[in-house]
Amino acid sequence: MKNKKINVRDFAVLRENGEKIVALTAYDAPTGRLAEEAGVHIVLVGDSLGMTVLGYKNTIPVTVDESLHHCKAVMRGVNNAFVIGDMPFMSYHLSIETAMKNAARYLQEGMVDAVKLEGGASIAPTVNALVNAGVPVLGHIGLLPQKVLTAGGYKITGRTEDEVQRLIEDALALQEAGAFAIVLEGIPEGAARRITEALEISTIGIGAGKYCSGQIQVINDVLGLFSDFVPKHAKKYADLNIIIQKALKEYVSDVSSVSFPTKEHSF
Ligand code: KIV
Repeated sequence: MKNKKINVRDFAVLRENGEKIVALTAYDAPTGRLAEEAGVHIVLVGDSLGMTVLGYKNTIPVTVDESLHHCKAVMRGVNNAFVIGDMPFMSYHLSIETAMKNAARYLQEGMVDAVKLEGGASIAPTVNALVNAGVPVLGHIGLLPQKVLTAGGYKITGRTEDEVQRLIEDALALQEAGAFAIVLEGIPEGAARRITEALEISTIGIGAGKYCSGQIQVINDVLGLFSDFVPKHAKKYADLNIIIQKALKEYVSDVSSVSFPTKEHSF
């Protein structure tokens, strides 16, 4: 898939070929470019932006304008990866018309390839309206960060048979509505496997085990960037927090001791 713009049909091909979809969040042009160069298929401008970049405690305060600002930045760094804008809290709940207007902004102003919405059967009519209007939609079920206040925290779901059945119903409703794939977040591996097997479209897991059609991670977790807390579902592939701290301390020390700038850095 090198040097070719990825489109929605490619995810079905990857699934048919038994190849995994690799997705990662990014929030700016350089990290979008790095993700694409590493071979990531999907770059999600997640509303995790709220915590990773904007300094909020959760995703609730993120606005469409804030999200679009970062979608535009990512689009300037990415050529071929499939870029998805994550519609924030309350931007698709007021009415189908509001959801359509906001989704249109993602495609027309943000220039992204698709949008992501959290929720199952209850938002299927909205997903259907968007898809019918020409907006590709990635669904998201299981642990829903935009419901953190009503759920009283971030809860794993799919531990009981009732919960698994509800998740399967939600996934089928989203598939029926036209979603091209679904994020499964915080779902036990066995349940995520059953959901994936019940679907024709792809699943992209985060904390949902290895049987999903692909995986997504938050770039800050993968790079060890500015966080003391590594969620159980994340693997830290680098410790940039330590590397950046060390570099910045050296810079402070060099300036304080007049070791920088030297002749080499002066005109
Ligand atoms: O906002 C986000 O980054 C997400 C992913 C974790 C799926 O929704």
